[in-house]
Amino acid sequence: MSRIRLGYVGCGFMAQKVHLPNFRSIPECDVIALAEVRADLGKQVQSQLGIPKLYSDHQAMLADPEIDAVAVSAAFSVQGEIARDALLAGKDVFMEKPMAVSLAQADALIDAARQSGKGLMVGYMKRYDAGNELVKAQVEQFRRSGELGAVTYVRNHGFCGDWIAGLDTPQIKSEEAIPTAPTVTPDWLPPAFAGQYLGYLQQYTHNLNLMRWFLDAGDNVSVRSVDLDDDGYTGIVVLDMAGVRAVLESGRVSHFRWDEHTQIYFRHGWIKTWAPPLLLKQVPAEVEIYRAGDEQIFSRPIAQPAWSWSYKREAEHFIHSLINGTPFRSSGEDTRTDVRIFEEIFRIYLQQI
Ligand SMILES: NC(=O)c1ccc[n+]([C@@H]2O[C@H](COP(=O)([O-])OP(=O)(O)OC[C@H]3O[C@@H](n4cnc5c(N)ncnc54)[C@H](O)[C@@H]3O)[C@@H](O)[C@H]2O)c1
Repeated sequence: MSRIRLGYVGCGFMAQKVHLPNFRSIPECDVIALAEVRADLGKQVQSQLGIPKLYSDHQAMLADPEIDAVAVSAAFSVQGEIARDALLAGKDVFMEKPMAVSLAQADALIDAARQSGKGLMVGYMKRYDAGNELVKAQVEQFRRSGELGAVTYVRNHGFCGDWIAGLDTPQIKSEEAIPTAPTVTPDWLPPAFAGQYLGYLQQYTHNLNLMRWFLDAGDNVSVRSVDLDDDGYTGIVVLDMAGVRAVLESGRVSHFRWDEHTQIYFRHGWIKTWAPPLLLKQVPAEVEIYRAGDEQIFSRPIAQPAWSWSYKREAEHFIHSLINGTPFRSSGEDTRTDVRIFEEIFRIYLQQI
């Protein structure tokens, strides 16, 4: 394949503000179809962007043999079902996070991908941020060279803030009601905690996924302790990531920007990175490297490409991986670990309250 014909499911906020403009700007990608259950919204987005085909829902789109791959952004639990249907229909899939709201749903998706031989990539755009790529390469280099000694500790602090950053690209809205989706959660979770669980999972899945990637921890991750407030959101979780203690700090602050940083400590220094507000285009994460020793040195390397947007690079990765037949950096199989860990965190949290 030298070009990918893409069908996009769900014409809401993320589709209009982020993914449709990004996929449409990739020379090797033709966005040939939309699927949207809100008929009027679908028509308006189709006509504004000049997309050739519009389907009334994802099932109708999946029968279209001209579509090579499908991208989906919809409600948390629904998008996993849509993605599974797409895999089983023989389409490669890019989907927004979270991949699944329970381990059972994640496993069903992974099975569907295996059964169909198609690829599933999950939208962890932080792994495609040029600043984070620099961090990852630097961690690997320090580990290889031993220059800063062993990795001793990792922390991610994420108190959120304003993630939209004033992005003023057009968004078509519709009076049509968003279809109510059944709230699917793990079968052991009392329904009264579904909102808390989904709220925490959908936010911090990014942060956990990023720390795992920096440490190359794969599935070698377990929960050591959980200290969350009654809101099931604010607090600290301590994890073991491939033998390294990793702390996830979650909470909220009124903040005009985006309050998130990750710090990887070595015996003789650190690498620290600050995340940009998510929808601030063309700004990668900032990076600081500290080397201890006789001559103590701080450096602030600039990521390359210096002006780039993680979501755009994520979309390019999906398309180019399909064309080149190379693996996804944020595959469904890898993401299963995040789903597993969030179930583990909430099991422990519920035992404590
Ligand atoms: N990666 C990130 O940083 C990030 C940021 C925000 C949101 N998200 C994720 O994006 C997802 C979508 O968020 P959003 O704000 O765009 O939601 P949204 O509600 O604005 O849009 C979803 C759209 O999907 C449509 N839809 C639902 N079921 C459908 C079906 N079967 N066929 C076709 N269309 C269908 C809905 O009508 C709606 O228009 C969420 O799961 C969220 O976790 C990710």
